[in-house]
Amino acid sequence: MLVNMNDLLNKALKEGKAIPQFNINNLEWTKYILEECESKKNPVILGVSEGAIKHIGGYNTVVQMTKALIDDLKITIPVVIHLDHGSSFESCTKAIEAGFTSVMIDLTKNSIDENIKITKSVVAYAHKRNVSVEGEIGHIGLTSSEAIYTEVVDAIKYVNETGIDALAPAVGSLHGIYLSEPKISFERIRDIKNATKIPLVLHGGSGIPEETLHRAINEGIAKLNINTALQVAWAKDVRIFLNQNSDIYDPRKIINAGEKAVKETIDYYIEFLNRGKN
Ligand code: 13P
Repeated sequence: MLVNMNDLLNKALKEGKAIPQFNINNLEWTKYILEECESKKNPVILGVSEGAIKHIGGYNTVVQMTKALIDDLKITIPVVIHLDHGSSFESCTKAIEAGFTSVMIDLTKNSIDENIKITKSVVAYAHKRNVSVEGEIGHIGLTSSEAIYTEVVDAIKYVNETGIDALAPAVGSLHGIYLSEPKISFERIRDIKNATKIPLVLHGGSGIPEETLHRAINEGIAKLNINTALQVAWAKDVRIFLNQNSDIYDPRKIINAGEKAVKETIDYYIEFLNRGKN
């Protein structure tokens, strides 16, 4: 069943839990994620970056592919098709028109006033169509860059003026493989959560130690984004498979050599997230 993020995230926030966002890269990944989350009866947010959309074929392809998989695989769990890091108003409206049930608008490279102005128009457009909106304030960069921390006053201003449903603040996490342990500010998460009262999103979830993730969730993180962990697990097993089977050329066999590792990683996060509060 396709849904927007609101009920899932608000319920998770109340229960001190978090819903996973697993990013998709292609049909196989979408299938693995849907199958595994269904087998655990765990709702899931499918994160789709603009790069992944381009790779898969386009906004419509992503939606039609996901809907067809939900139908053919008899998926019954709530599923969100979510634009990850939408870079413009146009990208968000294209996603919504195609049938995405949720969008993220990321204008952190713009001034805060510009960010607020465009985010507000995305919210107006999305809410009329029952689509949820995640916004970002303060920039969550790559692991090769320095972490920054969103100011609480900026978060309050951004949330109040835009009307977004979920907020991704910069609290010390980064995208990609961490070069050293991330310095997550639990205090900043708590302060932003208490001041804004909306579900918070932790980007760059892969590679953050369990203890840290648990504390972050207890302080108000209601959505945990995971991409790199699945990619690393898949690539490792596919590499081994190719090294051991130099005669195999069937792409289905090669791609699916990473299926078990992707599914085991999904299982790990689902089990971990369902352990709930410390
Ligand atoms: P990772 O790169 O840590 O998996 O983060 C994914 C993410 O935040 C997608 O928006």
